Amino acid sequence: MDKDAPYVYMRIRSVGQELCRFSGCQGKVAGRKVPDRCTNLLLPFGSFCPSIVRRARPAKSEGESRVTNKTLSTEGIRRGWEIAAPAYREGFALALQEISHELARRLPSRLPTPVLDLACGPGTAMATLEQYHGPILSVGCDFSHAMVGFARKTTGGGHGVVADQDLLPFAPATFGTVVSSMGTIFSREPERQLGTIATILKTGGCYGFSAWGEPHENAMGAVSRRVVDSWPYSLSSAPPPIETPYSQGQSPWLSRATEKAGLSIVSVTSHWLVFRFPDRGAAARALAGTGRLALLTGGAPAREQELLDRLMEAFLPHEDRASGQVELANRYHLFVLSRSSGQ
Ligand SMILES: C[S@@+](CC[C@H](N)C(=O)[O-])C[C@H]1O[C@@H](n2cnc3c(N)ncnc32)[C@H](O)[C@@H]1O
Repeated sequence: MDKDAPYVYMRIRSVGQELCRFSGCQGKVAGRKVPDRCTNLLLPFGSFCPSIVRRARPAKSEGESRVTNKTLSTEGIRRGWEIAAPAYREGFALALQEISHELARRLPSRLPTPVLDLACGPGTAMATLEQYHGPILSVGCDFSHAMVGFARKTTGGGHGVVADQDLLPFAPATFGTVVSSMGTIFSREPERQLGTIATILKTGGCYGFSAWGEPHENAMGAVSRRVVDSWPYSLSSAPPPIETPYSQGQSPWLSRATEKAGLSIVSVTSHWLVFRFPDRGAAARALAGTGRLALLTGGAPAREQELLDRLMEAFLPHEDRASGQVELANRYHLFVLSRSSGQ
């Protein structure tokens, strides 16, 4: 299988009941043996959603979406996250756990299920929800295979789907809750995405997510930007921005976009996350393990060392000279929206 090939996503008919329509194979998958010829493609992510497969070929049938040439840079960005996944899980994801806890505390105490963790990374948000609610039927969705693999292992009741968050393969009214911690901020079309999330939510369902504040409130983002902007080598894909229409928190844009999507705003709250690292080396390794920065090196070892050196330098203003510890703070917002009526 060509690892760089665009993805083809088959539409899921309903949670737990997929139909495999790959390469002429008409075999029903849920609850049955996966046909042999599909096994190598389907099994790595197959226990929940075997019909999500990747393969380079044009989309032909209704209900099928495809990452095309127009979104090739998305494939580049995806590769960045794929490279970063193991380091992300050990570094940045741990630093972001606090955000998922704050989010979990703002969601309904009787959480509508199933839960979709969108752009789930290693399953940070869905694992946190399990701590509050016990085992729940949850689905982690990310465009990185490695991230989805981690997410499935992180939770007891978790399943994984590899998909682009702007081309979601879920049927309408599938989920009781959609969560995303620092994931939907990478959507290419935030307004359209709100509409899609409203559609895949059941009536009465909720959508809780986090987003970074504005550039001047985002010290980690400033370090990242400084290194990206001064990187001397050409890049195949431009790193995605960290700031989004959500960066202002409550805003006229949010009111308009949520209303248009058929969602109501339950709460918008603002918080600060203080990143603390024992030294600049640890801070540099954590930030290097994110998709934005992994894009700079493309996984090449020589470039990785250069990236770490540049990050170490960029963290210098945040170092406590006496202890060597690094501390910097980011503002973030938490949004809880609900789908109150049928659309
Ligand atoms: C900052 S990480 C957050 C991960 C996780 N939610 C957490 O709290 O640790 C962003 C995640 O978004 C995923 N991502 C970015 N763009 C995506 C896209 N277009 N479709 C699906 N996942 C995407 C990345 O692979 C990565 O796992």
